Amino acid sequence: MRPSILIVDDDEVLRETLFDVFRKKGYEVFSAGTGDETLTVIRRYLVDLILLDMRLPDVDGLDILKKIKELDTEILVIMMTAYSDVQSAVKAMKSGAYDYINKPFELEELQLLVEKGLETKSLINEVRRLHRQHRVEHRDSHIYGVSPQIQYVREMIEMISKTNKTSVLIQGESGTGKELAANAIHFSSKRSAKPLMKINCSAIPDSLLESELFGYEKGAFTDAKTTKKGLFELADGGTVFLDEIGEMKPFLQSKILRVLENQTFMRVGGEREIKVDVRAIAATNRDLEQMVRDGLFRKDLYYRLKVMVVEMPPLRERVEDILLLAKLFVEENNKEYNKDVKGFSEEAKKLLVQYSWPGNVRELKNVIERAMILTDGEYITPKQLPFELKQTEPNCAVKVISDLSDPVLGISLEDMERSHISNVLKRLEWNKSKASKALGISRATLRAKIKRYSLDAI
Ligand SMILES: Nc1ncnc2c1ncn2[C@@H]1O[C@H](COP(=O)(O)OP(=O)(O)OP(=O)(O)O)[C@@H](O)[C@H]1O
Ligand SMILES: [Mg+2]
Repeated sequence: MRPSILIVDDDEVLRETLFDVFRKKGYEVFSAGTGDETLTVIRRYLVDLILLDMRLPDVDGLDILKKIKELDTEILVIMMTAYSDVQSAVKAMKSGAYDYINKPFELEELQLLVEKGLETKSLINEVRRLHRQHRVEHRDSHIYGVSPQIQYVREMIEMISKTNKTSVLIQGESGTGKELAANAIHFSSKRSAKPLMKINCSAIPDSLLESELFGYEKGAFTDAKTTKKGLFELADGGTVFLDEIGEMKPFLQSKILRVLENQTFMRVGGEREIKVDVRAIAATNRDLEQMVRDGLFRKDLYYRLKVMVVEMPPLRERVEDILLLAKLFVEENNKEYNKDVKGFSEEAKKLLVQYSWPGNVRELKNVIERAMILTDGEYITPKQLPFELKQTEPNCAVKVISDLSDPVLGISLEDMERSHISNVLKRLEWNKSKASKALGISRATLRAKIKRYSLDAI
């Protein structure tokens, strides 16, 4: 966003001279000759800095300064005062002016003052942003995994991060790494030095969500004592992460669509168009396509987001990653708790790869952390693993992998058979005649195998 300057002076010649000077410097420039015009401009446009003449035909410069500050505390105001009027200048500074300059002035002096002011302003914004964001760490955005599915995800992300504006939709079950993927996209894109602003659409009531996203103007509602910037404004130049977008109400969905299409929006209670440069990344664990069919999600927004989709695969479909991630979390916890756990016992490994991980990587991470706290030994054993892991049956043949280095060698024929029978039975809701047909064996053989593998104990 180009910085914008408003020049307020009743002297038309001076006004036009300054207008030209600053426009040539690349600023967006507005001008006004009266106090009324001034207020109209700042109500309608986003202004970063105002050069304000102390003497205006309709009002006193100091009064207008107060009104400006009431409307938008963040606008910088530089007062232009008559040489003799030191007292007013002091008053202006006390009322929140950023600085003042005596008339007549050298153009260069004014330009320096403006540049310095805008620089300070952007530094202040930057510091605020860093405060807000200090928990997001760049180095934590690596997506680990060796499975073809996760390799594909990494390739997609690499491709997406080369694009600059395209919106992205990240889909996946809970705990599969959607937020991690959003971090990865942002931090490997050209926008990485700019903010990544996140919001969870399901965690905030609808009424607040709108002002969180778009900000509000003073007086937009009772508590709006001053203006506030929303997420899209704060993320200018960077990325907005809209988590759980499926929970967003249709009236906000259409506002989001508008930002994505025009890169403009208005603050709540505002009339001025604000232009931003942001990339939106949305995430959901819901089936948006179905929601569109059910009339719960706007079709146009869905199609807009669908241009780039990243599917985060569930952990149970990429068994190769389980032990690798488990090891990674062991190392993380070793550092955190100052321990020296080496890994897992064979039985523990088996339980980890067999389990279906409904809570995906997040659940795995929690299970490992818990086990690390419980263990005193060098290896984590089934004893430190939660009950659920000992309950389940492998529901997919590859689940029995226990050797990371070569998954195929880790599966015995018996394992395969047991797992396949178990799957078929589950799928057919334990209808044994259907299952025996599907498996191509007699009912008696099926019964025998169920007994042999203790499948009825599941
Ligand atoms: N491939 C991975 N490599 C390393 N860590 C991962 C990986 N996938 C997920 N994680 C970690 O697992 C945890 C859950 O990931 P994340 O919060 O991104 O998931 P999510 O899909 O947003 O979950 P939810 O739907 O519950 O919000 C995080 O701590 C994340 O760092
Ligand atoms: Mg999440």
